[in-house]
Amino acid sequence: MSGLQPSGARTEIMPFVKSELEEALAQNIALTFDDVRVDTGYSEILPSEVNLESRFSRNVGLRAPLVSAAMDTVTEHEMAIEIAKQGGIGVLHKYLGHERQLSEFYKVKFHLHALITKPITVRSNMRISDVLEMRRREGYGFNTFPVVDEEERFVGIVTGNDFELCGESSQTIKDIMTSNPVTGGIGLTIEGAYKLMIEEKKKVLPLVDDSGILAGMYVWSDVQRVMSGKSDKYNLDKDKRLMVGIAVGVDGSVPESLDDFVRQGLDVVVIDSAHGYSKKVIDTLRAIKRRHPSLDVVAGNISTEDAALDLAKAGADGIKVGQGGGSICTTRVVAGIGCPQITAVYRCAKALSRAGYDIPICSDGGVRYSGDVVLAIGAGAHSVMLGNVLAGADETPGEVIQHKGRQYKVYRGMGSEGAMKESAAARERYGQDGNQVKFVPEGVEGLVPYKGKVEKIIFQFVGGLRSGMGYVGAGTIEELRKKSRFIRITQAGRAESHPHDVLITIEPPNYSVPVEDTERR
Ligand code: XMP
Repeated sequence: MSGLQPSGARTEIMPFVKSELEEALAQNIALTFDDVRVDTGYSEILPSEVNLESRFSRNVGLRAPLVSAAMDTVTEHEMAIEIAKQGGIGVLHKYLGHERQLSEFYKVKFHLHALITKPITVRSNMRISDVLEMRRREGYGFNTFPVVDEEERFVGIVTGNDFELCGESSQTIKDIMTSNPVTGGIGLTIEGAYKLMIEEKKKVLPLVDDSGILAGMYVWSDVQRVMSGKSDKYNLDKDKRLMVGIAVGVDGSVPESLDDFVRQGLDVVVIDSAHGYSKKVIDTLRAIKRRHPSLDVVAGNISTEDAALDLAKAGADGIKVGQGGGSICTTRVVAGIGCPQITAVYRCAKALSRAGYDIPICSDGGVRYSGDVVLAIGAGAHSVMLGNVLAGADETPGEVIQHKGRQYKVYRGMGSEGAMKESAAARERYGQDGNQVKFVPEGVEGLVPYKGKVEKIIFQFVGGLRSGMGYVGAGTIEELRKKSRFIRITQAGRAESHPHDVLITIEPPNYSVPVEDTERR
């Protein structure tokens, strides 16, 4: 489906209007998470019964509407793997640079793959030491390779055992590989592969076409995981590999530099800019869509109707909304711009639906509690991007730090001074890509409490979202978007919503006192 025209979908899309948010807009008042709650509605739905499926972009589905932020203290391969296993998607940050981003991407895509359609192969005449060096350089976390000859014909297989037990690294692959292993034909289903692998007691099963060319490979651990239903909640691509996205900037070389990723099945690219309603973003979006028409492109960040419509017209498959609402952001106070998040999401969702665009919105920034996910979706988002919530988890880059007897991890803004000094991509994100030595930061650097496993965090967030949907009477994310009725609350209402008149002695896993208050205690 093309994003260039509102298309025939126009008649099917209900105008997205929330009278309560409209009233505020009519007075030119913008609202954020803490200004509103969602009213309860008649419900026949139990939290355990709701369906959390949604979309990050037109063709990129989610089994839970959660996206990990493209930040250097949040999403590298470990986070991207875990969030996809929890049903969401991770966006690998762009400060990595092309080579490292590609290697992080491979680590996610090759982490789990029932059917690898384009396995990484080695040549039979390669030296063992060269293969081991390639494996180290590319960051491959696996050591089974199908072997091909000069004409790309499949001739054997080499595994971790062969490398370990070979002794001489100057030998060639041909000397240590297993020749003529059991293979399957093209089109062999996962069920067929499962049976054959058991019968033949084989942990890898290459697929070979009639002319002897390698056409794919099944790997036992993943086949077994898929067959046993253990991967039911994983967010997988059509080849049963984990979904993953990458963030890119707006320099002119982006469309070509995506080729390597696209060849290996990149699911989505996110054009990552603090000002998504700009010529550079729109030109980059158009150029990527021209070169890679079937690759989903999410563009952002924006917070106005006009911006949403122009990105839609330029072909965006997803739109990221949020300017300055993030926990580490100072854009709103430094530059004086931006729009509180609930209103920003709402007006973009309304504008898109009115114009007949079926383009998912990702609400980016400002989420602190699971209830905020309910609010963002109720205001029109299809997913939320999480930075602070996931920062401090085991799967984020960086070490655990001791500070005043507590454990923390570093979390910093991509527009923080440290990030800008270290990364050209950071400078470009904030339009400061000249040869400056001094920067005008739009973010801060700080510490967040160490939080342990991401799985635990997501469990609570998904649980809270399910609970909210049960209260609203929404069985699906789309119903939550449509049925949520907002009510504005006052400062007193907000105080009432949080625990009060009690000294919390045991923090539950889904509620914590703001970190600055912990420091004061
Ligand atoms: P949370 O609230 O989840 O927000 O920590 C994460 C989002 O904040 C954005 N971001 C920034 N915005 N200055 C900004 O104005 C910054 O330095 C900065 N760093 C990240 C980004 O959209 C992220 O997903």
